[in-house]
Amino acid sequence: MSQQMQGQPMIILGEDAQRMKDKSAQEHNIAAARAVADAVRSTLGPKGMDKMLVTSMGDIVVTNDGVTILDEMDIDNPTAEMIVEVAETQEDEAGDGTTTAVAIAGELLKNAEDLLDQDIHPTAITGGYTMAADHAKEAVEEISIDIDNDDDEILQQVAKTSMTGKGAEQHKDPLAELIVDAAQAVTVEADDGSTIVDLAYLKIETQTGSSAEASELLEGAVVSKDPVHEDMPTTVEDAQPLLVDFALELDEAEADTQVNVTDPDQLQNFIEQEEKQLREMVDDIVDTGANVVFCQKGIDDMVQHYLAKEGILAVRRVKRSDIEFLREVLGAEIVSDLDDATADHLGAGSVSRDEDEELFYVEGSGEEAHGVTLLLRGSTEHVVDEVERGVNDALDVVGSALSNGSVVPGGGAPEVEVARELREYADSVSGREQLAVEAFADSLEVVPRVLAENAGLDPIDALVDLRSAHSDGDARAGLNVTTGDIENTFDGGVVETGSIKKQAMSSASEAANLVLKIDDIISAGDLSTEGDGDEGGPGGAGGMGGMGGMGGMGGMGGAM
Ligand SMILES: Nc1ncnc2c1ncn2[C@@H]1O[C@H](COP(=O)(O)OP(=O)(O)OP(=O)(O)O)[C@@H](O)[C@H]1O
Ligand SMILES: [Mg+2]
Repeated sequence: MSQQMQGQPMIILGEDAQRMKDKSAQEHNIAAARAVADAVRSTLGPKGMDKMLVTSMGDIVVTNDGVTILDEMDIDNPTAEMIVEVAETQEDEAGDGTTTAVAIAGELLKNAEDLLDQDIHPTAITGGYTMAADHAKEAVEEISIDIDNDDDEILQQVAKTSMTGKGAEQHKDPLAELIVDAAQAVTVEADDGSTIVDLAYLKIETQTGSSAEASELLEGAVVSKDPVHEDMPTTVEDAQPLLVDFALELDEAEADTQVNVTDPDQLQNFIEQEEKQLREMVDDIVDTGANVVFCQKGIDDMVQHYLAKEGILAVRRVKRSDIEFLREVLGAEIVSDLDDATADHLGAGSVSRDEDEELFYVEGSGEEAHGVTLLLRGSTEHVVDEVERGVNDALDVVGSALSNGSVVPGGGAPEVEVARELREYADSVSGREQLAVEAFADSLEVVPRVLAENAGLDPIDALVDLRSAHSDGDARAGLNVTTGDIENTFDGGVVETGSIKKQAMSSASEAANLVLKIDDIISAGDLSTEGDGDEGGPGGAGGMGGMGGMGGMGGMGGAM
C-alpha cells in the first residue's frame, strides 16, 4: 500500500465507502446530535415524562434519567455517540444534570447551524463558545449562596429538587431526610478546613417488597446472604469477623488429582488427608479468635460443618464490593492467606439477622469503624431501580453542596442569569466570536423554555418574564413549575448546586465544538444506516488503509 501514485488523481476509498464534506458533513452531524437532544428533552424537569426502554433481551427500564435513557438506547451513529458522552461525563463529574447538559449541547449546535448559514467560519463559532463557557463559570459563582454543613433544610431541598420528576419523587420527603443524614454521616472536616464527603463509606442496598417510604439509614452494612449451615448462630453480639477473599476449599488441582486406588486403605488415607487439610483451615480460623467469617468465594461442605461445630457463623460468596465495605464498617483487614491471619486482622462489631428479609445487619464498634447503608425499598424491581437512580443523583448533589458549601437557585435561574451576563460580555468581544457568545447565551435559555414546555406553560411568556426579572436585577428569579410563578426559586425551595450547572455548560460546549470542527466525514460503510462497513479497515479518515482491502467489496456497492 505505497503511495507511488502521487501526482495523479487518486481514488483512495472503496466503492462502498461514503464521504460527506463541509456543509453537508456539518448538517449531517448537527442533525444527528439534535436528534439525541430531542430524545431526552421531554424528560427535563419535575413535570417531565418518563421513557420506557426495552432492551434487545426484552428487559424493561422505565426512567426519567437522561444518562440512563441514552445508555440504553442502542445509539449507532458516531456523532450521536459524542452527545451521549456528554451525558456520561456529566454523570461522572456531577452525578445529575445529564438531561440539561444534553439539551444545551443540542441547542448550541442548532444555533451554530444558523451561524454557519450566515457563512461564519466554524472556528469563530467554537472560539466564541469556548470564551462563553469560561465566562459562564464565573457567572454561576456569582449567584451561589453559601450554606453550612448543618443547614439540613436547604440540603433537603437540594435533594428534593434533584429527585423531582423521578420515581423517587413520590416519597421525596422521607427520602430527602435519609439522603441528607447519609451524606452528613460520611462527611468529615479535613485538617486544612475543607469538607470531604466520602461516598465510598456509603452503600446503597435495595430491597423489594415494601414501599419506598419504609427505606432506612443503617449504621454499618447489610449483607443479603444466608448462613452456610443451619446449625450456625445467626446473631453474634460481640462479633469478631474475619474477612477472606479466597475459597475455603481445597485447591482445584489437589481435588482433581487422580488417585489410583489399589486397596481400600489407600482410599481411606486419601479421604483422611483431605479432611485433615480442611480441618486445619478451620483450626487456623479458630486460632485467630474469629466468630464470624465473611468469605468472598465458596466454602467446602466439610469446612461448613466444622465451623458450625465451633459455633462460628459463616457466609459465603459475599460480593467483593461488600467485602470491601465490611472492611470499612468493621475496621477489619481482608485476609488472603490463612497462614498469616491473626487476631489483628479481625474486625469488631455485631451481626444480627433479619429472617423475613433474609439479610444480616452488620454494625461496627471499633474506633476505625465507619460506614452507613441506605436501604432503599420499593414495591417492585422497576420501582426500586428508578428510586435508586433518583437517590443516587440526589446523594451526589447533596455531597457536592456539602463539599462546596454553596448552592444555586434552580428552575432555570442560573441559565437565564448567565445568559444575561454573557450578552453583556459579548459587547466586549470583537469579531465574529461575538455572535457565537450571543448564540451561547440563547442556547442556555433552552432550560427554562423546556421546563415551561414540559409543564404545559407557555415557553415564550415564561422566558420573556424571566429575562425582564433578571434585567431588573433579580438574579435569582426562576420558574417554579409547581406554581407556574416566576419567583426567587431559592426561597421557593427549588435549589441546585453550581457544580451541576458549570459542568453542564462546559461539557455541552466541548461536545458542540468537537462536532463543529468536523468538515469531512469519511465512512467505510453506508453513512445513513451505519453498521456493517467495518470490513473496510479501521481509520476511515486515513483513507489509504482501505484502498486495496476494499476491492473485494465492489459488488456490494449498489446494495443500499
Ligand atoms: N419545582 C421546580 N420548578 C422548576 N424547575 C424545577 C423544579 N424542580 C426541579 N426543577 C429543575 O429541573 C431541572 C432538572 O431536571 P431533571 O432532573 O429532569 O434533569 P437533569 O437533572 O438535567 O437530568 P437527569 O436528572 O436526568 O440527570 C433543573 O433545572 C431544576 O432546577
Ligand atoms: Mg436531575
